[in-house]
Amino acid sequence: MALRPLVAGNWKMNGTKLALKELAGMAEGYDAGLRGKVELMICPPATMLYLAAAAALGSRIAIGAQDCHAAASGAYTGDLSAEMIADCGATAVIVGHSERRQYHRETDADVCAKAEGALRAGLTAIVCVGETRAEREAGKALAVVGRQLARSVPEGANPDNLVVAYEPVWAIGTGLTPTAADVAEMHAHMRRKLVSRLGKQAAGIRLLYGGSVKPSNAAELMGTANVDGALVGGASLKAADFLAIAAAY
Ligand code: G3H
Repeated sequence: MALRPLVAGNWKMNGTKLALKELAGMAEGYDAGLRGKVELMICPPATMLYLAAAAALGSRIAIGAQDCHAAASGAYTGDLSAEMIADCGATAVIVGHSERRQYHRETDADVCAKAEGALRAGLTAIVCVGETRAEREAGKALAVVGRQLARSVPEGANPDNLVVAYEPVWAIGTGLTPTAADVAEMHAHMRRKLVSRLGKQAAGIRLLYGGSVKPSNAAELMGTANVDGALVGGASLKAADFLAIAAAY
C-alpha cells in the first residue's frame, strides 16, 4: 500500500516574517498542481509559528515546530511546550533532530519524552534518527538507528501521530547522500523494527528521508521503497526548490 507522501521543510534557524512570502508561493504552487498528490509541511522558527499557521490557513500546507519541551508547562525559561505549539495553530513538531542531539546533548530518552509531549498535545511527532559517518563506516548504521528508534518512539505511537525521519548525520547540509540501495535497506529495517514494536498498524507510519534532498535527486530518493516523503532543510527555504522536490513524487 502506498502511503500518502509527506514533504516537510525544516527551516532551522532561518527566516523572519519576510519569509512568509515564500510560504505564500508554496501555497500557490501547491494549489496549482500538487494538491491531492502529496502533503506539504513547513517547520519555521518558533518566532514565526503563529504567523505561518495563520498564513497557511486554508492552503492545506501544514505548519510544524522544530522542537518542544516534554512538559506541558512550568518553570522552563525559554522553552515551548507542545501545547503552546498547538495553540499557535501548528499540527506537528520535529523531535530528536541530530542538531538537537548534537548541540543540546539530547538523548533518546529526552527525545522520547518530547515525543510523548507532542502526542499528549494532539500533535504529530516527527521523530528523527540517523547515524554519524563514523558509525556508518564501522558498519553500525542499522544497529544505531534501530536502537534510536526503539528508545525514541513513545508508546501509543500510530500512523496518525507519528512520522519517522531517517537523516544520516553525514548527509545533512553536505551535498552527500546515501545510495538508493542504502536508503532502501535502512527504511526496510526501520519498518521491520516499528512493526515488531507497534504491530501491523506500523505499516502505515510514514518514513521520510532527509539529508541534502534537492530537486535533482528527489525523484530517485523518493522513488525508493519505504520512502514515504522527505524532510528537507536548505532546499525548503525557496518555494521554487521546495515545490520541485514535492513534484518529484
Ligand atoms: O531537517 C532537515 C535536514 O537536517 C536536512 O537538511 O536538506 O539542508 O541537508 P539539508
